[in-house]
Amino acid sequence: MKTVPNHPITQSLNHLIRMSLFSEILKRVEQLREEINYHNYLYYVLDQPIISDADYDALMRELKEIEGKYPETVTPDSPTQRIGAAPSEKFASVPHSVPMLSLDDAFSQEEVLDFDQRGKRLLQIDEELEYAVEPKMDGLAVELVYENGRFVLGSTRGNGYTGEDVTTNLRTIRSIPLKLINRHLSPPSRLEVRGEIFINKDAFEHLNERRIEDGEPPFANPRNAAAGSLRQLDPNITASRPLNIFCYGIGIAEGYSIETQWDVLSSLKKWGLKVNPMVEKLKGINGAIRYYLRINKKREELDYEIDGIVIKINNLGLQKRLGTKAKSPRWALAYKFEAAQAITRIIEIQLSVGRTGAVTPIALMKPVKVGGVVVSRATLHNEDEIRRKDVRIGDWIIVRRAGDVIPEVVRPLPERRTGEERVFVMPQTCPVCASELRRKPGEAAWRCPNPKCFPRLVKQLTHFASKGAMDIDGLGPKVAEQLISAGLVRNIADLYSIKLSDLLSLDRFAEKSARNLLSAIESSKKTTLARFFYALGLRHVGDVTAQLLSDHFGSMKVLVDAGDEELKSVEGIGPEVASSIRSWFGDNHNLGLVRRMLDAGTKFTDLHEKKSLPLKDKVFVFTGGLSSLTREQAKNIVRDLGGQIASTVGRKTDYVVVGEGPGSKLQKAVKLGIHILSEEEFLALAKKIY
Ligand code: IVH
Repeated sequence: MKTVPNHPITQSLNHLIRMSLFSEILKRVEQLREEINYHNYLYYVLDQPIISDADYDALMRELKEIEGKYPETVTPDSPTQRIGAAPSEKFASVPHSVPMLSLDDAFSQEEVLDFDQRGKRLLQIDEELEYAVEPKMDGLAVELVYENGRFVLGSTRGNGYTGEDVTTNLRTIRSIPLKLINRHLSPPSRLEVRGEIFINKDAFEHLNERRIEDGEPPFANPRNAAAGSLRQLDPNITASRPLNIFCYGIGIAEGYSIETQWDVLSSLKKWGLKVNPMVEKLKGINGAIRYYLRINKKREELDYEIDGIVIKINNLGLQKRLGTKAKSPRWALAYKFEAAQAITRIIEIQLSVGRTGAVTPIALMKPVKVGGVVVSRATLHNEDEIRRKDVRIGDWIIVRRAGDVIPEVVRPLPERRTGEERVFVMPQTCPVCASELRRKPGEAAWRCPNPKCFPRLVKQLTHFASKGAMDIDGLGPKVAEQLISAGLVRNIADLYSIKLSDLLSLDRFAEKSARNLLSAIESSKKTTLARFFYALGLRHVGDVTAQLLSDHFGSMKVLVDAGDEELKSVEGIGPEVASSIRSWFGDNHNLGLVRRMLDAGTKFTDLHEKKSLPLKDKVFVFTGGLSSLTREQAKNIVRDLGGQIASTVGRKTDYVVVGEGPGSKLQKAVKLGIHILSEEEFLALAKKIY
């Protein structure tokens, strides 16, 4: 048949040809992706590749070529899409729907046996408990969210409740599947996976060699390298680092019922996620102790660093019955290997005044490398500890460092004494303000009683302003020292009375920086009860405890009035915390501070049930400069209303707020048909909701 150009029949024929060609192309693209994903899985997850690198590269090349020619075939879970995302300015925060807890540590068999006994007692069970045991990876915890089998969100642990959105960085890690395997077991519609990101030992050595060649400082240890690599604003840098993962837990698996930790691990494996092959299921705590000894022996041979084992009660029903404390579950324990130690010498013992007035003796030492990190200060805890260990100034000592914990002096080496060593005498007065130190019966710490003692105030103020607390940008230790020295601030409430002219009279403050600080102070007034409570800096009240109390009491007034018993009835709150809270609120000076801050306009935006927050689960992306508020303030408004911030526009984005000079995010939003808001519209929306 002769075809006539532009004739309707010719056009529709051409259309048909194009369509069927396109469907062939789509089929091939799908096939290539399946194949590449499978080889990825064999190589990166199972460590058992079956094709050569060259064959693998050929598959990738073909896929890239087709996708280059037909960009409409590209999907976010295509294996070609692991790298290439644009750098972001800052990580958005991501709330964890199930908190990412930490683990209680044990260093001896006794403590492990106690853990087992306690479990049995609380559960009223006589027979041996079944445990799942796993190596404890020395890396950093992340959460991966899969929706309908696709990797959509990845975040760091953060404070356990809220982490940072590192999705684009995690996508670059080949052992993290972008799409779950559906063959043996359909993945749940929403799956939250927990795991540990780490760097293998040999890859770490290579990485450091390369850095040294490039004139860059080497990383102290694989853990630091992994942490530094994951928290890169530019995902291309992360992509160049040899990160790896082992998955060990599930936050939520929608509509999927699991009965044991062992099921958790085997389900993860079936979905193509990487699980440590050394996990075991054992009956009785003695089995777990034997596992520890076995793993400890093998430790050096392993291709990755571990700092102990994790013992978990296998049955999830029993786990649930035991429940959790503020920061850690009662059903799991980290049985740690001995921490890294080194020998050095104490040059001097100094006192450090903390936020709550506690005066801690610190050993200043000849710098020494412990577990890959150079340390020159170590805590001696308190006077009794110094006496018990008989540590003297000038002593050779063993210093120990475990993970992120502050290094501590383990013991002196008396055989190396020369006779020149001096016994440390605890001063009777504060080294800074000369107030007479006090020590309460039953407490080990000496305290400076002066609430205005300089370092104490500086630490209080910087804690108050810190990110997890009131989040006052620009109020670090230097500025805090300045404000206090100038007499502008004598307590945290004074912050809210500072005027522009006050700041302008200070060194290093120009009109702009002064206004920025004032506006940061102003916007900090819109906060949550948990942040505010944490910011007050009570002893034993960290961010997690503050959140628990806020969830339970829901109002400052109820919290202030709560009695000892009521406080202790909150899951995770023990007698020490309760008594610290009672005594702090029992002091009229403190109540006065709280009153003043509330009168200054501090507002809690979370005092309705989280579920009723108007922007709950709505995802916002910002692009371009805002004129009437900072990006950070705008983001805080969204977060306070229950929304989330993402750095890139995708199908999950609900709103894109567009300021001056928007980037490509705007085009993408238009393409995807996402709701676009101007700055004014955004403010109007926020106002309407407030
Ligand atoms: S389970 C509530 N399993 O250890 C359960 N954690 O101190 C908490 N970690 O933040 C986590 N290997 O970063 C678990 N096999 C493992 C682990 C493991 C390493 C880390 C993880 C966690 C920390 C808790």
